[in-house]
Parts: sequence; structure tokens; C-alpha cells
Amino acid sequence: MDFNYWEQYYLKQNAELMPSLFAHYVADLLKDKQSEIVELGCGNGRDSIFFAKQGHSVDAIDQCYNEIVFLINQYQYIDNLDFRCDDFTDLVDDEPYDVVYSRFTLHSVSKEQETRTLEWAYRNLKKDGLLCIEVRGQKNEIYKMGEAVENEPDAYIYDNHYRRFLNFDNLCEELKKLGFSLDFAAEEKDFAPFNGQNETYIRVIARK
Ligand SMILES: C[S@@+](CC[C@H](N)C(=O)[O-])C[C@H]1O[C@@H](n2cnc3c(N)ncnc32)[C@H](O)[C@@H]1O
Repeated sequence: MDFNYWEQYYLKQNAELMPSLFAHYVADLLKDKQSEIVELGCGNGRDSIFFAKQGHSVDAIDQCYNEIVFLINQYQYIDNLDFRCDDFTDLVDDEPYDVVYSRFTLHSVSKEQETRTLEWAYRNLKKDGLLCIEVRGQKNEIYKMGEAVENEPDAYIYDNHYRRFLNFDNLCEELKKLGFSLDFAAEEKDFAPFNGQNETYIRVIARK
């Protein structure tokens, strides 16, 4: 979904390089232990690089081939960080992780792909492992803006860009049905202020 949009976006090399507030929040949760982390949809790698510099082992996955090649070359000096080009909605099962980290990526994929990703996350986490999600939900200020996508409830093309806005209660229920317990779940402002805007986002920390 939106492959070309993201390829072009990261080719410009002017995306934010500072780690997100969510990465700081998750790093605080992990501060007592070195963790095996997989990031789904790493973009320019900023949060994965931050986690690796904190001593965690990180697999960072994105669909953008050119950006991943750039990141592999640029950060080959960091041993505990691996970048890989892949579709995070269609991953094979792997050695289990302590953390599956997904920031601003589940709203980039269809409902079917989201469900497949959540199921993969559950299977590929160790017991007590954390699924960390930040995503646009239906309280987000641009929900329903732009052109509705046919046959895809809650999905819109706005600013040349696909977004599907998750329902907070349904996401929490789906995670619980999969077997997760929720350490934290909220849909609020102040999670990700950016460029003078303070929009409302979903943040969930789900434990296997
Ligand atoms: C809004 S960006 C977020 C990047 C990063 N997580 C951050 O917070 O800076 C969404 C990223 O998800 C990636 N993405 C979307 N769908 C994907 C998929 N099915 N497989 C792999 N990457 C995907 C895009 O290429 C893009 O880099």
C-alpha cells in the first residue's frame, strides 16, 4: 500500500531524524534489560537506531528498498542493528522477540493486513514480550478528510496518501482476543506533537 509515496518521501532524506517520543517511552519501559526488538515499518530508521544505541538488538523492516539500502550502508558500523526490506504484513515466523514495535504503520495497511500483522506479532513474541503500537485512530483530527477508499471502511486518501483510521475499542478487543493483556491503552493528545500540531493518537502497550 502506498509503496511509491513512501519511496519518494524517504528519497528526499529530509524526514525527522530525532527519535520519536514513543521510542523514548518504550526505551524507558525496557531500561532494565537488553531486548530483542523488531520494528515494523522503520522509515528512515530513527527509532531503531536509537534502540540499538541503547544496547538493544534490533531488526528494522521497511518496504522502501532504496531507503533500506541507504540505511544498511550508513549504519553498518552498528553491529546490533539489521535493516531489511520486507512487507511487514507478510512475514514468516522468526526467532521470538521481546518487543514488536510499530509506530505510525498500522494505519498504512488494510484491515486484513493489520489483523495478519497482530497475529504474527503474538506468535513471534516471547512470553511477557511487548507489542508497542502508536497509530492514527478515529479521534485523529484528519479522520474522514479526503476521498473515502471504496470497500475499505475508515480508509481515506488525503494529501496523496492512504490512511485507515483504527477504532480504539476494536483494536483493544482484538488484542485481548489474541491473548494479549494491555499494560497501557489510550487515545489522546500529547503522544506525538509535530510541527506545531498536537493531534490525537492511539498508544497501546500489549503484553503476551
Ligand atoms: C509514517 S511512516 C513511519 C516511519 C517510522 N515508524 C516513524 O515513526 O518515523 C510509515 C512507514 O511504514 C512503511 N510501511 C507501510 N506499509 C508497509 C508494509 N506493508 N511493509 C513494510 N513497510 C511498510 C512505510 O514504507 C513507511 O516507511
